[in-house]
Amino acid sequence: MKILIIGGGGREHAIAWKAAQSPKAEKIYCAPGNAGIASVAECVNIPVMDFDAQVKFAKEKAIDLVVVAPDDPLAAGAVDAFEAAGIRAFGPRKNAAILEGSKAFSKDLMKKYGIPTAAYETFDTPQAALAYLETAPVPIVLKADGLALGKGVLICNTREEAKEGVKTLMLDKQFGSAGDRIVVEQFMTGREVSVLSFVDGKTIRVMTSAQDHKRAKDGDQGLNTGGMGTFSPSPFYTAEIDAYCREHIYQPTVDAMRAEGREFKGVIFFGLMLTEDGPKVLEYNARFGDPETQVVLPRMKNDIVDVFNACIDGTLDQVDLQFDDNAAVCVVLASDGYPEHYEKGFVISGLDAFDGKDGYYVFHAGSKFNADGATVTNGGRVLGVTALGDTLKDARKNAYAATEWITFANKYMRHDIGKAIDEA
Ligand code: GLY
Repeated sequence: MKILIIGGGGREHAIAWKAAQSPKAEKIYCAPGNAGIASVAECVNIPVMDFDAQVKFAKEKAIDLVVVAPDDPLAAGAVDAFEAAGIRAFGPRKNAAILEGSKAFSKDLMKKYGIPTAAYETFDTPQAALAYLETAPVPIVLKADGLALGKGVLICNTREEAKEGVKTLMLDKQFGSAGDRIVVEQFMTGREVSVLSFVDGKTIRVMTSAQDHKRAKDGDQGLNTGGMGTFSPSPFYTAEIDAYCREHIYQPTVDAMRAEGREFKGVIFFGLMLTEDGPKVLEYNARFGDPETQVVLPRMKNDIVDVFNACIDGTLDQVDLQFDDNAAVCVVLASDGYPEHYEKGFVISGLDAFDGKDGYYVFHAGSKFNADGATVTNGGRVLGVTALGDTLKDARKNAYAATEWITFANKYMRHDIGKAIDEA
């Protein structure tokens, strides 16, 4: 099969790397890809939102399967565009990607179908939101309704912070039209867990659990980022919690989308909070998580191309999804200053240290080739260094050892990825 992957970050590198192991993958393209993805796929310089150019390319190359990975093209209807041209595409159609694309939609869905989540109110005007906040309990959470690069969630400890947040989202429009409507949500406490799953419209196959580290600095300090590191599995996600979530959250979500006439095919990412009252949904994403994918896929035993096809064909009930009984840790190497101001274009050394080393992976998030053909930094998050281990502690030791193999100017990382493992 000829496969085209849409996207150009660490998640797409992990997907391309996994797809390249399939005997069915005769040729892989990635649009736009990056310098690391170029080691497993041919990168083509087409932006993720240019559906016309992607469809034209897919027709020219007789692509058999497209995998749309990022949220923005999914929410804007990339899968619909490929299907309209008669090209098989993995991912939710626009009417199902709304599960991530509108926080108000997903909260209303959960309320309607009794799926556990935090109490909330939705507001279309800043006046109404501010009036509500006069008496609402704090801490409180504000969420931009639309997509905001994962940064549209504000946790407000005081009423004043919450009012300032309404101004940021709805009046100053920090995230553009994503903040035209906001969800104001009860603050939940507990451990966060990310659970990715494959879905074919009716059947769901749950992958292994993971945990992300969203803040830029050690001790969960600093600004929110796209994710500074992950580990898998989460030792806090017990068999009992898994059973509860399958019965009350996972299958009910798939059934709810179907009942609404929004059949979901692709990956549902359940962002969960393990509260004292049981697991609750913090958020849904309609795609693989990043960097969760960088610890989940190296542990997956199945041929991912088979799983993609089963999701599209509605035959996921015939797939026995399996994961190795081991652990993985990913430490993101970023450019100092991320997620605000950072420089790009620094030469990255040490990448070849990963060649031929089983259980060690370097997934590129932001890299490119310079005019001399050297691999240079090209983003805030630059690389995801992932290592496997028999245990989470081994995997963490291995991952941090491997971060030392890489050098580039302004290299920055957190030093406490997986610290929670010690509390398990
Ligand atoms: N790691 C969180 C996300 O992918 O949105």
